[in-house]
Amino acid sequence: NHKGIRKIACIGAGYVGGPTMSVIAQKNPHIQVTVVDLNAGRIDAWNDENFDNLPVYEPGLDAVIAEARGRNLFFSTHVEKAIMEADMIFISVNTPTKTYGKGKGQAADLKFIELCARQIAEVATSPKIIVEKSTIPVRTAATIKSILDHTGKGVPFQVLSNPEFLAEGTAIQDLYKPDRILIGGEDPDAIAALRSIYEAWVPSDRIIATNLWSSELSKLVANAFLAQRVSSINSISELCEVTGANVDEVAQAIGRDSRIGPKFLKASVGFGGSCFQKDLLNLVYIARSYNLNQVADYWEQVIKINDHQKIRFAEKIIQTMYNTVNGKKIAFMGWAFKKDTNDTRESAAIYVADHLLEERAKIEVFDPKVQENQIYNDLNALATRSKEENQKLLKAVSSPYQACEGAHAIALLTEWDEFIEYDWQRIKNNMRKPAFVFDGRKILDRKKLEDLGFIYYAIGE
Ligand code: NAD
Ligand code: UGA
Repeated sequence: NHKGIRKIACIGAGYVGGPTMSVIAQKNPHIQVTVVDLNAGRIDAWNDENFDNLPVYEPGLDAVIAEARGRNLFFSTHVEKAIMEADMIFISVNTPTKTYGKGKGQAADLKFIELCARQIAEVATSPKIIVEKSTIPVRTAATIKSILDHTGKGVPFQVLSNPEFLAEGTAIQDLYKPDRILIGGEDPDAIAALRSIYEAWVPSDRIIATNLWSSELSKLVANAFLAQRVSSINSISELCEVTGANVDEVAQAIGRDSRIGPKFLKASVGFGGSCFQKDLLNLVYIARSYNLNQVADYWEQVIKINDHQKIRFAEKIIQTMYNTVNGKKIAFMGWAFKKDTNDTRESAAIYVADHLLEERAKIEVFDPKVQENQIYNDLNALATRSKEENQKLLKAVSSPYQACEGAHAIALLTEWDEFIEYDWQRIKNNMRKPAFVFDGRKILDRKKLEDLGFIYYAIGE
């Protein structure tokens, strides 16, 4: 019973649209799900026979695609056709931080959302339920509804908010067993229709309905709270380093308090990813736009601590290596913003590398899933120096042992499991001495490395 939903369209085939719609299609074999995107290259990649070429790397995603693609899951560039045929349309486009004009560097850029609304209004000739899947500022549903009602052909539209809480690297597990599904809306029939899609695999008591604005705001608040936990423990990591406390032990001790809980207390070189900073900035901007300056300052501090943590790590490397890294080779283990993803957006590695390159270090990067051109794109986007200079100072290599060959130091930036298992004796043998390891994720075994003769530094110890 799908309350009349036979066809779903999703606009935006990215990290959210792709995996989310794949699981919806897998669990609802009688609903046709079409994911559309303007980016033809991305759609081709989603349709690639070779699962290694899917545009998003997520453990378990290939099996879901294998089951549903071509059966009731389709990836296409025919945006208008998909809109026209669908009963329900998810909007899953990017909502980046504005890079121009009012709110530059803080507010969410809603131009892609607005384009979707206008395109839907232009082609829709039958009633549609529009679902906001993208993360958007509170009250965006009112904008979407206004565009639809003023530019549409008079067909009825319902707008629902249904934010996505999956984390990259665990997307499929998160989608299979969500802590909750949040649906914000006004129209009971539309809410029931969306609820029925999720009820194909999610227990009903995990599906929460709220008003539109609570749902929209809850997404920003959830990310703000999560990021705040990371900044909180990272701020304590600095205090641990000067007092002899160990941040993992502190995290374990406080995490046992059931009111605090053990998750999201892993100190690191700083949080990255496409959303934490963007959503915090957005929350800060919204608060300021209502003149709530204390509220804005409070949340802004979460970002400031995160920026401090990244620079502090780079400074620690320089200071430990006798105050100069000029001409020294530093091997980077990891470039992705966390393990089990090929996503590098806002990765701490980018900022640490940029800082070290300013000090004329030479960097060689190994990441199991990130391509070389992505690494250059990330660095070039900062525009700190010319592309040619970046190309000269930094290299990406396809073997960790090659990256470490002749290196003065290793900086571990991503917590990939395989790093733990490497032949650290072999690595040590081929490095310059003293051989430094700077563990920005605290995943390596201090005793083992020190026994091998490394000088080992970890965040928060
Ligand atoms: P993404 O950049 O990977 O994908 C967005 C896609 O939308 C792109 O492929 C782009 O080409 C396409 N697009 C943009 N405008 C379009 C249009 N008018 N018509 C057709 N296609 C269009 O972004 P993402 O990471 O999937 O994030 C999407 C949204 O979901 C954002 O609002 C983000 O905040 C939110 N979100 C992301 C995550 C995550 O883990 N990445 C998790 C939860 C929520
Ligand atoms: C995060 C949220 O966890 C998701 O619920 C949300 O849907 C998503 O943002 C989003 O809106 O985009 P994601 O960014 O994919 O997911 O990954 P996280 O696991 O949250 O990690 C974010 C960053 O924090 C990573 O750089 C990670 O290494 C870092 N982190 C996380 C820590 O440094 N310590 C921790 O204890 C946890």
